Amino acid sequence: MDSFSTLIRTATHEQHVEAETSTFMSGLLGGRLGVDAYARYTEQLWFVYEALEAGADRLAPDPVAGPFVRPELFRLPALERDLAHLRGPDWRATLTALPATRAYADRIAECARDWPAGYVAHHYTRYLGDLSGGWLIRDRAERTWGFARKGDGVRFYVFEEIGNPAAFKRGYRELLDAIEADELERQRVVAECKKAFALNTAVFRALGKEFPLSA
Ligand code: HEM
Repeated sequence: MDSFSTLIRTATHEQHVEAETSTFMSGLLGGRLGVDAYARYTEQLWFVYEALEAGADRLAPDPVAGPFVRPELFRLPALERDLAHLRGPDWRATLTALPATRAYADRIAECARDWPAGYVAHHYTRYLGDLSGGWLIRDRAERTWGFARKGDGVRFYVFEEIGNPAAFKRGYRELLDAIEADELERQRVVAECKKAFALNTAVFRALGKEFPLSA
């Protein structure tokens, strides 16, 4: 039987392709969007990580979610430095969540409050993705908009405290495989991962509307 981590990965594969090839993401990676679109996207990430990380302290002692709460993953400080660079020191004054982002952040907060295994689904979908494909977005952003390598503007993608992302990801999958949950609960977590991908795609769709690609 496949491990839980393999099951999650397989079950979300199709949606991963969909997210990766969304108009907004391909526009961003293809260098066809302005830095304003990148800044707007980074703002949306702030709401997502605020929801993920605001609940972390309370979840640290939880037997299911606790092992996933690792300070070396925290992205909010990096995002705030990036936003100060992208939007200026008053970045908070103009920060707004798109409705799709609000819905996404609300769902994370709800899981953080009521359902630790659901929180893990959201944790996985973001942090393992950032550790996997994040370097690619960083590389494109540096080239397209001229940010200093691993510097302000792209710090979100740099995990200073994780020396070996591949090893970290292996350890992370072991944590997923060690979750004590029966078959039904595992299926619910898989469904929540799929929901997390759908919530991400909805944000991309909204951003795509705000920043249409010029032909
Ligand atoms: C253009 C955007 C993206 C690129 C280029 C990208 C690229 C990648 C790459 C190269 C991997 C590694 C696959 C492997 O280990 O064999 C990966 C894994 C992953 N990505 Fe993405 N990705 C993107 C968008 C996303 C989005 C939007 C999400 C969800 C929010 C996401 C979530 C994940 C997850 C959870 C994994 C880990 C899969 C696993 O090993 O269990 N990715 N991505």
